[in-house]
Amino acid sequence: MNQPRSLSKLISTNTLQHAGYLAVAKTRAKALKAFSYVVPVRRPMLFVGEESCDELCDMLINENNSNVFIVTDAVLNSLGIPAKVTNYLDSKGISYHVYDGVTPDPTFTVVENGIDQYAEEKCDSIVAIGGGSVIDAAKMIAMSQGNQCQPQQLIGILKARKPSVPLYCIPTTAGTGSEATLGAVVSDEKTHQKALSIDPRMVPLAAAIDPTIMKGMPAHITADTGVDVLTHALEAWMSANANVETDYYAASAVKAVMKYLPLAYQDGANLKAREEMGIAAHYGGIAFNKAGLGYVHAIAHQLGAYYGIPHGRANAIVLPYILDVNRQGSKKRLAALAKRAGMVKVGKASSSDDEVADQLIADVRELIATLNIDPTVKGIQSSDFDSIAKAAAKEVSDTYAVPTYLSSSEIKEILLKIEQASANTHENSAEVA
Ligand SMILES: NC(=O)c1ccc[n+]([C@@H]2O[C@H](COP(=O)([O-])OP(=O)(O)OC[C@H]3O[C@@H](n4cnc5c(N)ncnc54)[C@H](O)[C@@H]3O)[C@@H](O)[C@H]2O)c1
Ligand SMILES: [Fe+2]
Repeated sequence: MNQPRSLSKLISTNTLQHAGYLAVAKTRAKALKAFSYVVPVRRPMLFVGEESCDELCDMLINENNSNVFIVTDAVLNSLGIPAKVTNYLDSKGISYHVYDGVTPDPTFTVVENGIDQYAEEKCDSIVAIGGGSVIDAAKMIAMSQGNQCQPQQLIGILKARKPSVPLYCIPTTAGTGSEATLGAVVSDEKTHQKALSIDPRMVPLAAAIDPTIMKGMPAHITADTGVDVLTHALEAWMSANANVETDYYAASAVKAVMKYLPLAYQDGANLKAREEMGIAAHYGGIAFNKAGLGYVHAIAHQLGAYYGIPHGRANAIVLPYILDVNRQGSKKRLAALAKRAGMVKVGKASSSDDEVADQLIADVRELIATLNIDPTVKGIQSSDFDSIAKAAAKEVSDTYAVPTYLSSSEIKEILLKIEQASANTHENSAEVA
């Protein structure tokens, strides 16, 4: 049957637009692969265990730093978490200044205030004690100080000319892996968009993964940030730019998350589970540093910017849908991951790739359900979908090498499913109430 002229024109325009998007995105993905091979990315010195904060402090003292700028947030400061570091610095006669002005998803103002205080206090080094928000703010302060520039000038790829001031990181969440990565995310308070700065000089000199620092993390933050680790590892594994090295770190992270995240969620004081999750987060960061991420992060960043959802929870909401759309194109890879991460059930070793990939996706859904992550997006509305889909598609085309490219309408279909799931959950909770 002939289609009406206007409709066939619309379809061909969309097809053309999608073909153009695909061509640009694939060329950029190749350029990113070349970038990740050519530009060396160093690793921070890694300390792990209950003594690791002391070891990190010893390193900064040995490197002749004597006036430390401690970056943290008000919640962590009120919980006394930085005390583990400040007490040790006191015992060594090292002076420090605490800046606890970082807020979740830090803005340029948060970074600028930190830069001003660092300069006023004439500090010579930075220790970040916090989640991804604190570490990213500290990275931007360190790079701006090292380059004597405004943080806005660092947005983009390789914008810095000089190294950052010495930066050391102590993650308090097991999530972003930001202590291992070459990027920092800052929210622009005017546009409500997240801006990204990417530079290998941003990688800290050292990181300490101390399970005692994480043991008081509330269960819902443990759950959200833990699914962030899983998403980094899964997206890095499925990336077209994955390689032997990134596969090693991604598979190790998935294996650890499947085993230890439920344990850390059930019992925050389980130090073994906290430590393994901390290492998994670090490994996830190493994996996506080179292989990149994908549509889960691209859409989740927009849900965060539009509706104020924490980063990890937004990933948990989007992840199952993207696994479903990638399933066909990535089933061999997903099956290989399930085998490597020990997720194939005993007696099912001879299952087909289809069955194993389906099992992995089902296991991820089950994990998210076990963690009681709220799937609702309050305020989600279809009038936002065009701009969200456009921004997510742009993030993918600018920064990632995904296994399956989605058209704008396919992204909007996913948003619609999220909206419907939100409405169903609201209805159910209203019935219960
Ligand atoms: N640079 C990167 O490579 C990278 C990668 C992914 C995400 N990010 C960014 O990281 C940010 C998210 O970081 P996040 O998920 O770690 O959360 P977060 O740093 O925003 O912290 C979330 C909340 O948890 C609290 N918290 C943190 N640790 C705690 C602890 N041990 N005990 C009690 N409360 C604790 C914080 O005070 C805060 O209120 C986002 O801005 C995201 O864009 C950066
Ligand atoms: Fe993330």
